[in-house]
Amino acid sequence: VLGPRLAWDWHDGVVPESAVLDDECYVETTYSFLLDRSQRPYGVRVGRGTSTYGGTMFDVGPHGTVALGRFCMTNGSSFVCDREITVGDYSLLGWNTVIMDCRRSPFDPDRRRAALTARPPEPSAALPSLAGGADAQPVRIGHAVWIPFDCVILPGVTIGDGAVVGARSVIAEDVEPWTVVAGNPARVVRRLEPPERIPEPPVWPA
Ligand SMILES: CC(C)(COP(=O)(O)OP(=O)(O)OC[C@H]1O[C@@H](n2cnc3c(N)ncnc32)[C@H](O)[C@@H]1OP(=O)(O)O)[C@@H](O)C(=O)NCCC(=O)NCCS
Repeated sequence: VLGPRLAWDWHDGVVPESAVLDDECYVETTYSFLLDRSQRPYGVRVGRGTSTYGGTMFDVGPHGTVALGRFCMTNGSSFVCDREITVGDYSLLGWNTVIMDCRRSPFDPDRRRAALTARPPEPSAALPSLAGGADAQPVRIGHAVWIPFDCVILPGVTIGDGAVVGARSVIAEDVEPWTVVAGNPARVVRRLEPPERIPEPPVWPA
């Protein structure tokens, strides 16, 4: 069973059956699902008020699940997921930023070669994980996080609420809430004043 089309879509595709899109979210194009092979009941979830714009890619393996909260924006970000990636409410993810919960390739060159030679050349861009997905560790991005362009978030990382990441940073370790980190490897640049609370998202339209 194939899911619905998006009325405004420039790509001739459908929303995958496993995707759960809130009635009040905006997904620019089903091209974002070209690499989505999730077989989970909820493969990709997009919350109320959230927009995913051109170039956002959900590269999700059979056991992967990606959940975007409410009132988020992703602009050309890639989610490489074999297990679980979650993003809280009000978070912003920028151009070319890659969030990965898995490595997709084994370290051992013989295993990489064996996996490549076992795979016939084929038209599908949806490559299986050469590592089998066993290395995946969940990535959790909190509420009100800002990750701008060209960042890499590595497997197992948790980024706390309100954190800000500098452009072109590589995040290999957890980031505390309300902290600005930057660089490769990222270091703490400064601390932010946390608000008393993060407000509940408004009813849409406000
Ligand atoms: C994250 C960011 C907002 C931090 O700004 P800030 O808190 O004002 O930081 P500062 O400019 O005062 O710099 C503080 C330190 O961090 C370093 N730094 C800041 N951004 C950095 C980055 N992206 N990579 C590496 N180091 C960085 C500075 O060199 C400085 O180092 P120093 O203390 O040794 O002198 C900013 O650096 C940034 O990356 N902006 C990009 C915004 C963007 O991409 N917007 C569009 C897409 S949504």
